[in-house]
Amino acid sequence: MDLPPFRNEPPTDFNDPANVAAMEQALADVRAQFGRAYPIIIDGERITTGATIASVNPARPSEVVGYAASADVTLAQRAIETAHRRFAEWRRVPVEQRVELLLKAAAAMRARRFELNAWIIYEVSKSWAEADADVAEAIDFCEFYAREMLRLSEPQPLYPIPGEDDRLTYIPLGAGVAIPPWNFPLAIMVGLVTAPVVAGNTIVLKPASTSPIIAAKFMEIMEECGVPPGVVNYLPGPGSSVGDTLVDHPLTRFIGFTGSKDVGIRIFERAAKVHPGQKWLKRTILEMGGKDTIIVDETADLEAAASGVVTSAFGFQGQKCSACSRVVAVEPVYDELLDRVIELTGGLTVGDPAQRGTFMGAVIDERSREKIRWYIEEGVREGGRLAFSGDAPGDGFFVPPTIIADVDPNARISQEEIFGPVLAFIKARDFDEALAIANNTEYGLTGGVYSRSRERLERARDEFHVGNLYFNRKITGAMVGAHPFGGFNMSGTDSKAGGRDYLLLFLQAKTVAEKL
Ligand code: NAD
Ligand code: ALA
Repeated sequence: MDLPPFRNEPPTDFNDPANVAAMEQALADVRAQFGRAYPIIIDGERITTGATIASVNPARPSEVVGYAASADVTLAQRAIETAHRRFAEWRRVPVEQRVELLLKAAAAMRARRFELNAWIIYEVSKSWAEADADVAEAIDFCEFYAREMLRLSEPQPLYPIPGEDDRLTYIPLGAGVAIPPWNFPLAIMVGLVTAPVVAGNTIVLKPASTSPIIAAKFMEIMEECGVPPGVVNYLPGPGSSVGDTLVDHPLTRFIGFTGSKDVGIRIFERAAKVHPGQKWLKRTILEMGGKDTIIVDETADLEAAASGVVTSAFGFQGQKCSACSRVVAVEPVYDELLDRVIELTGGLTVGDPAQRGTFMGAVIDERSREKIRWYIEEGVREGGRLAFSGDAPGDGFFVPPTIIADVDPNARISQEEIFGPVLAFIKARDFDEALAIANNTEYGLTGGVYSRSRERLERARDEFHVGNLYFNRKITGAMVGAHPFGGFNMSGTDSKAGGRDYLLLFLQAKTVAEKL
């Protein structure tokens, strides 16, 4: 099977009036489908239960985007047992056929791009551009992992013993669980499903409870593209009971998870326990939170730094694991940078993301809004100075972009992930101190440095301990293939989504030596 080289899916040009019209039409069409019910799907069978999850529009919480049937413990057990049974067939499906499935899914998402954008805009309150990037990344994951699987199914290089036929092949693991977050409701979910599936595994997908509808749309796409029953099972339900059941089950072979540190640790600990009847040690691929820092020194282009900080801090309301939540600026440029960041932040539009040109929508839910507000108050209680707080419109879950200056590097708002539009400014004496502060959290996901000093950039390359480090640019928006993504320490298990090592996490190598 010969495929053209991978290339990233380009963003939609919303300066083109035809694209604007198509986006507005899709928003209207999707709105007309609000309030529909989406069943659980196990082995291709549609199942409804007495319980549902109402997925609401965070910008207008009275609007129900859709109702997902909510699974219980018994259905969770059935789902993983089904996936285990179906693995016996799926692992034997030729690689080319599995690859073809991903290419078809990519093509289907391309064809439904505006519609998928619209579901994301309504379900999690992304702006047009952020939703469009989410869909583009989902397409990229399919195209990239399809090619990776072809590469890994080629004969693998060995140093054979003379007189032997020595071969190494990668084989799949078994039935696994995909547990994505809501913040890249399409891209991360698609990555967590398609990587293991193209590798020959079967999956139970437990979507996040605030974004089950976009997951249902992807399930629709997978079925239309010919995924056999039971290879991907769609199982919305409470993370606590359903999640624990899937993680604990002795037939679960691996868990692919992206989400918070606390849930990641819980999964890690529970998956380590071997249950009666379990024949393997479970593999866990856990991508967790971040407390991401941009350093700005006195040699930096301050205009570029201010702009990069604002985009990284407030894009999608700061609800990215990669978002800049701390700026550490050296003393000589601290005030000037802070003033410029405040000025640029004041120009951001906050409002209904379905409106073209809105930069920030609402945060995901009421609980999140309350948590973010608590951190803002805590930041001031701890001695920070409220340097900027914008306006938050309407009755949605809006939080204005907020900047807290003169933050102590050890304050809670400097250490804990807030996951909202809150930016802490910290002053450092010099670059050495800035680097020490940047490394002073338990996380290690993304980081950035704005500097014109080659020597300092090289030091940061070596000493700034994060999985994704960016120089003189924003620290969000990792591109599949170019910026394999994943963090160190409490940011996860050091996996790299969108990189050449990723599929190996869902495979095991088998060596066969035959005497000739
Ligand atoms: P979360 O941890 O609350 O939930 C993530 C998923 O875990 C959801 O599907 C949830 O239902 C499920 N879950 C909850 N309890 C569970 C349990 N006991 N067992 C199994 N599953 C359970 O996270 P979230 O709020 O959805 O997402 C935000 C978090 O994700 C942030 O911390 C962010 O930094 C992180 N994140 C990390 C990356 C990365 O690549 N490192 C990317 C995106 C988001
Ligand atoms: N991969 C996402 C980013 O880089 C989280 O922003």
